Amino acid sequence: MGIAEFNEIKDRKPEHAIVANVDLVIVRMDEEVSVMYGRCLHRGALMSDGFVRGDNLICGVHYWDYKVDSGVSEYNNKEVLPKFNSWVEGGKVLVDEDEISSWHQENPQPFQRDAYLGQYADTSHGTEEEPYNGLIQQYAKDGLSKTGHHGKVDAMGVPRNQLPDWDDIQLLTAQLQKAPLLDEEEVGTEVVIGPNAQKPLKLDIPLFVSDMSFGALSEPAKIALARGAELAGTGICSGEGGMLPEE
Ligand code: FES
Repeated sequence: MGIAEFNEIKDRKPEHAIVANVDLVIVRMDEEVSVMYGRCLHRGALMSDGFVRGDNLICGVHYWDYKVDSGVSEYNNKEVLPKFNSWVEGGKVLVDEDEISSWHQENPQPFQRDAYLGQYADTSHGTEEEPYNGLIQQYAKDGLSKTGHHGKVDAMGVPRNQLPDWDDIQLLTAQLQKAPLLDEEEVGTEVVIGPNAQKPLKLDIPLFVSDMSFGALSEPAKIALARGAELAGTGICSGEGGMLPEE
């Protein structure tokens, strides 16, 4: 089916079209034409609002780039804007409606184009730096009707991905720099935190059982961890305020 008059498309000026409920972007480069999915893979902005720079179609919102001839992002080759078959015949730009319809079956489009801002739903997979985007959008859409008047309630926590990991603990061997100790010789692993404090914290090993909040662990679990820490020659943090009388 025809989606545009070839002569009316300005060179290197993205144009919008819709076929089978799928937004398309048409880009003319000299005498060549390219038709791709018309939504940015980042946040779903209309690619027809973007611009062409060199061989790339650039999203106007945060500048994700897609090669006009393939849809592949030069910056991140894993991001590929789907490209559809297109050709010029009788002065019209034509596409295969069946191809686009079957793409739509596998990628249903969420836009309620007549509703307020319905044209701008976020279709993206998002990025890992923005983990709360979906939640913010859900609040914008449903208010607190799905979460109760306190909003989403969670236990206090620490950002797990910023804490040291087991993989960070590396015991450096000494073979190259100096002769290693024999198996039976003792290796000092003691750690003193606050050596000048009135009551320095002395641990046999440089590992410590982290705080876990009141309510997150049962009393038997806290006791088991405390006993394990004692046996291992280290300590356990009480969490915010403590839970057991001993704390
Ligand atoms: S929506 Fe296109 S780059 Fe962000």
